[in-house]
Amino acid sequence: MIIFALETSCDETAAAIVEDGTREISSVLATSEAFHQKTGGIVPEVAARKQVETVIPVIEETLTKAVDVLGVSSTNDVINKIDAVAATVGPGLIGSLIVGVEAAKALALAWNKPLVPVNHLVGHIYGNFVGSQKEIIFPAIALIVSGGHTDLVLMRGHNDLTYLGGTLDDAAGEAFDKTARLLGIKGYYGGKALSDLAATCKENTILGKLPRPMLDKDGFDFSFSGLKTAVRNLVEKSNVPVEVISKEFEDAVVDVLVAKTLNAAHKYNVSSILLAGGVSANSQLRTRMELESGHFNLHVPPIHLCTDNAIYIASAAFFNFNPKPFASVKADPSLSVMDKA
Ligand code: KG4
Ligand code: ZN
Repeated sequence: MIIFALETSCDETAAAIVEDGTREISSVLATSEAFHQKTGGIVPEVAARKQVETVIPVIEETLTKAVDVLGVSSTNDVINKIDAVAATVGPGLIGSLIVGVEAAKALALAWNKPLVPVNHLVGHIYGNFVGSQKEIIFPAIALIVSGGHTDLVLMRGHNDLTYLGGTLDDAAGEAFDKTARLLGIKGYYGGKALSDLAATCKENTILGKLPRPMLDKDGFDFSFSGLKTAVRNLVEKSNVPVEVISKEFEDAVVDVLVAKTLNAAHKYNVSSILLAGGVSANSQLRTRMELESGHFNLHVPPIHLCTDNAIYIASAAFFNFNPKPFASVKADPSLSVMDKA
């Protein structure tokens, strides 16, 4: 089955064509990042306007790129091969989501294909299913760590999720970004830059100086806002070099993420652990999970499938195939990982 998907939940405008949820046929991603760099944060109105401008060119380019891959002679032939259209319906920025949802409805109507709504957070998990990676054996624990969410779920199969816990305040990515800003690191998504800086630290001379929030608590909830405040105190009251603070901050976040994920994997006696979301691109998190995952089958998406794109949206639509009448498909900015799209 070939699925065409759109993803516009944040500042990206992304489209992709994927076969059987695993084979990427074509993918195009445009971002309005350069505009937000100037303002130091995403301006939702600006993001949505840029998406209105870019969605048609992105769709056209995705179809064009698929012509050669599918061995056909025109984009009309590509359209004929598409079995369904999918779109992220939430969570995300309302204006941005509406652009993708309405464009997907128009395509499904014009092409006479079924329309499959996708929950963005569930979509992230499917970054693990794309490509020639190892077979995923259920049950699995999925850790979804993105800019807006931190969720731990038990996955007994496709369309069979149980919520175990999540952040009570800031998401892991949000903590990275806010701390980066606090440390004077430029850019509006400072997580990667903070991590690059941490990698230059030769020795963490302040190991253990920052809290590992909720580490000793039973259960699977997280809290990262206190960590940010502790970093602020450290910056104001000491002369610790910024790369050392970055390293200690990253160690603290990774300590908590790894410990809670492994606790859940042991408690539910799962076969596999799946990392997902933008923060799963973090090299420390990837390395530490590799080192500590023991007998569990660890799956980590390639970097380009950690951050937002439409490839995993198409994959999620395939594995949870549930077309809906057009009128019932609506953008929903506050969808949680457990909500049906
Ligand atoms: O999943 P994503 O692309 O967008 C959302 O759905 O939110 O995640 C973006 C988040 C941002 O907070 C970004 O700083 C963080 O992922 N991120 C990282 C790294 N790469 C992206 N955080 C830490 N280390 C990284 N290498
Ligand atoms: Zn995301």
